Amino acid sequence: MSFDPCTMSYQSHVEHFEKIKTLIFPSSVDACSELAQQIKGLILARQKEGRDLVLGLATGSTPVPLYRELIRIHREEKVSFRNVITFNLDEYYGINRDHPESYFRFMQDQLFDHVDIPPDHIHVPDGMVPMDDAFDSCEAFERKIADAGGIDLQILGIGSTGHIGFNEPGSTQVSRTRLVALDKVTRRDAAPDFLGEENVPRFAITMGVGTILQAREIILMAWGENKADIVAQAVEGHVTESISASFLQEHSNVRFLLDTAASSSLTRIRLPWLVGRAMWDEREIHRSIIWLAGKEKKPVLKLTDEEYNENGMGDLLTREGSAYNLNIITFNRLQHTITGWPGGKPDADDTNRPEKSEPHPKNVLIIAPEPSDAVVSMAGTMSRLVTQGHRVRVCYFTSGSLRVTDGAATRFARTLEMLSLDGEKLHGGGRDETVDRGWSEQRSFASLILNQILEKGPFGEHPAALRRLKALIRRGEARDACSVVGVHHEHIRFLDLPFYEKGRYRRFIATEEDLMMVADMLAEERPDQVYTTGSQADPSSIQAICFQLFIKALKRHENESWAKMCSIWHYRGHQKALAPHEIAMAVPMSPDQLRQKISSIGKFQVHGIPNNLSGEQDLRTAVDYDALGMAEYEAIESFERIEGLKYKR
Ligand code: GLP
Repeated sequence: MSFDPCTMSYQSHVEHFEKIKTLIFPSSVDACSELAQQIKGLILARQKEGRDLVLGLATGSTPVPLYRELIRIHREEKVSFRNVITFNLDEYYGINRDHPESYFRFMQDQLFDHVDIPPDHIHVPDGMVPMDDAFDSCEAFERKIADAGGIDLQILGIGSTGHIGFNEPGSTQVSRTRLVALDKVTRRDAAPDFLGEENVPRFAITMGVGTILQAREIILMAWGENKADIVAQAVEGHVTESISASFLQEHSNVRFLLDTAASSSLTRIRLPWLVGRAMWDEREIHRSIIWLAGKEKKPVLKLTDEEYNENGMGDLLTREGSAYNLNIITFNRLQHTITGWPGGKPDADDTNRPEKSEPHPKNVLIIAPEPSDAVVSMAGTMSRLVTQGHRVRVCYFTSGSLRVTDGAATRFARTLEMLSLDGEKLHGGGRDETVDRGWSEQRSFASLILNQILEKGPFGEHPAALRRLKALIRRGEARDACSVVGVHHEHIRFLDLPFYEKGRYRRFIATEEDLMMVADMLAEERPDQVYTTGSQADPSSIQAICFQLFIKALKRHENESWAKMCSIWHYRGHQKALAPHEIAMAVPMSPDQLRQKISSIGKFQVHGIPNNLSGEQDLRTAVDYDALGMAEYEAIESFERIEGLKYKR
């Protein structure tokens, strides 16, 4: 079910901005089940005609829910894929087909092994062809597409640089299948898959933009808030070589399928009053006035009737009477988001405060999907909650072991080895058999780890002991980070959820086992207030999976009084800050508190959180609030409110 336009005139306004037909779905699963039905229809229609269907396929996390649905259709609806021919968009160069991150292997795992497409119908560019033969191999790939009659339906995802396939910025509209160098942003995005950026291949073979544009029909899918800006640029911006997805504007049969989070930067969602569809509810009024203040570069209280009229907000003005009234409402609403009492101010009137004053102190639960998540977004708030006497518990849902490099694990194992040698020299030497055995066991553990690192190579599966060591390294960092903001190590929980321990990036699958662990944790903690993240994230991300687990687990307790009363605050992740209109609670920080936060983040060393995360978003939020006419703070941490038990996605 797609959210389709309400009126013709609305549609024509949308088209004024959107140069590609774009459909927005409640979730990736809804979008993929509709698309999978379309593909099923095509397969069956071609079967009747005795013809093949030629599909262009993509990799990455985006098409995974589509492939799962196609597999279901094959199994449960008994649809054969024997008449399907496939061409994959791209492949990393220099890794063989057995490599766990090769796109060939990805496609086998995610689709081909589970449906009956004949192996000789499957085409993935060869990433191991010698450099000198690459050109011929790419030409042969193009010829095979032509021999198959061309691609009927091309499926695409979109990379953060706006690339389709691996057509990085600079790719031309007429480019064909070829060997390309990967952009540094693309390599950084792929770093978690390859357990470190240094392991990400530098080159890839990709279909060209011209090859893709020759497909008879094209569907690009995108999920999660991190794709929102680049999608909007591709759909609404100029056609440009710096965003290869923008070339799709030139195709006559193309659709973008988005979930709500990925659509959030489109003009019709961001500034609906400009496409003539304003609902003017409280939220929209707030958002539009903050936008207007930003556009006019003025504090809210200085906006004038003329400015409302000149910016498509005249009907709002007519409704509310004057700019003065509208300005005051927005100013107060913004003002009321600011609090130095994130857990509620005891014995104070809380009518206009973000958080209830009772109970005090509160059971506060802070959820960190990956160990560094919470402090990056809310170290200042954590510190305040502790200082204000709340019972603060931090729960790490996943161990974060996949973020720890082999180099860091090697360093720890070598330290252990040296420690055991020193210990033996100082305290051992035959004086006490038990002590000697202790040192020698320690040394064998260290050498077991060192061997495991060597044996698995840079990308192999991690044996249990190595994965455990990496998890423990992460735990140490998490404890240090928490202690900087005053959370005692006994108040930290590590769930080490199994979906993470058993999975790989972009392919995690949570099960009932994970859900039960989260539900049990909640039953023990009985929180009055929860801080969490991931509601808008890419559904395949750890943050989104953990958020869904939390919401589902909370629903299991819906009849308990603590769950009904619990307030839920949402912090945004590393990549996207909250915009002022989204903020329901703004917790100011002094320069000292900001320094403390940076020091807390600094405890996470082994995967090197980029510096720009060290409080930069908080500085920006403070500047935004100041510009809107609020008090001038050094930095502000910000939160959205989530209607916990009523939450739907
Ligand atoms: C890679 C692939 C693209 C894919 C992109 C986005 O760059 N070559 O085809 O669209 O990643 O990946 P994801 O879907 O995981 O966000």
